[in-house]
Amino acid sequence: MGQKAACCASKDSEQLIPAAEALSAEEQKGTEEEKKANPLKIGATMPDFQLNTTKGDFSMHSFLTSDPEKPWTVFFSHPNDFTPVCTTELGECHLLTPKFARQGCKLIGLSCNDTESHAAWSKDVLARHASCAGQDTLAFPIIADKDREIVTALGMLDPEEKTAAGIPLPARALVILLGTTVKLTILYPATTGRNFDEVLRVLISMQLTANNGLATPVDWKYNERVIVGPAVKTEDAQSKFEDFKLEELPSGKPYLRSVKCPATGCSPGSEKSMIMSVPPDAPPSAPDDQDLPSGMAVQSSSCKCTC
Ligand code: BEZ
Repeated sequence: MGQKAACCASKDSEQLIPAAEALSAEEQKGTEEEKKANPLKIGATMPDFQLNTTKGDFSMHSFLTSDPEKPWTVFFSHPNDFTPVCTTELGECHLLTPKFARQGCKLIGLSCNDTESHAAWSKDVLARHASCAGQDTLAFPIIADKDREIVTALGMLDPEEKTAAGIPLPARALVILLGTTVKLTILYPATTGRNFDEVLRVLISMQLTANNGLATPVDWKYNERVIVGPAVKTEDAQSKFEDFKLEELPSGKPYLRSVKCPATGCSPGSEKSMIMSVPPDAPPSAPDDQDLPSGMAVQSSSCKCTC
């Protein structure tokens, strides 16, 4: 089924209409069927699995919606406990948990073993980091998926990487959700460790560009200029954002437009550096350097739309 543009301008051009509203009833039905067929498709609702975790038993949805100050979740799967790549990844996630929290985001891992194994493995993970001396539990829950029910239901298997018994290993899936809705999915083979600084960068980009028609260009880092998406009229971009620029191209088409990175703001009750798109009545603020992935520098920024 053909997809329409991700969003389009409404008649008064003040609001952007989400893609689903721009589709016909028949197209929307098709989209709903596609989401059911692929539960990790962008826009799908994460199935509400019952979870057995290192921090107790609860449903996926109750975890995803458990903390109004952390509406975002990074859900990531691991092939197996006591494996080297997974051990390095889990340690990094533990260390980055405060940075994710400052972006309004919580973490939850999954590995295909039971909770006793996860608890024992966590001690190995923490022992590798001097700053974790004295700690023996990770900062986030790890789901026990011993029978691979969840990874199988979510299509998170790596068919090319098999156990000695010939069973496919779980891949390294990573899902970013807002509430119970899938916003981004990446799937790595079991043999390649992920870069969680990149996950944090992507999260910040998604927060900065939600519902305002903005987008971030290749290799974007926080505070660099952002792209004005095709759905936004130039006059609206000029009035809502700062320092509008149009790049001239051989085609003469006026589509490569950018503005200064909008200021970040806090929504009522949110963590101080959480980035909101066009936060209502929020004073401008920016994340501290220490909150951002390495290489992201913060400079002062202001924006007509948020101030
Ligand atoms: C690991 O987690 O270390 C790993 C998993 C599967 C294949 C190779 C390495």
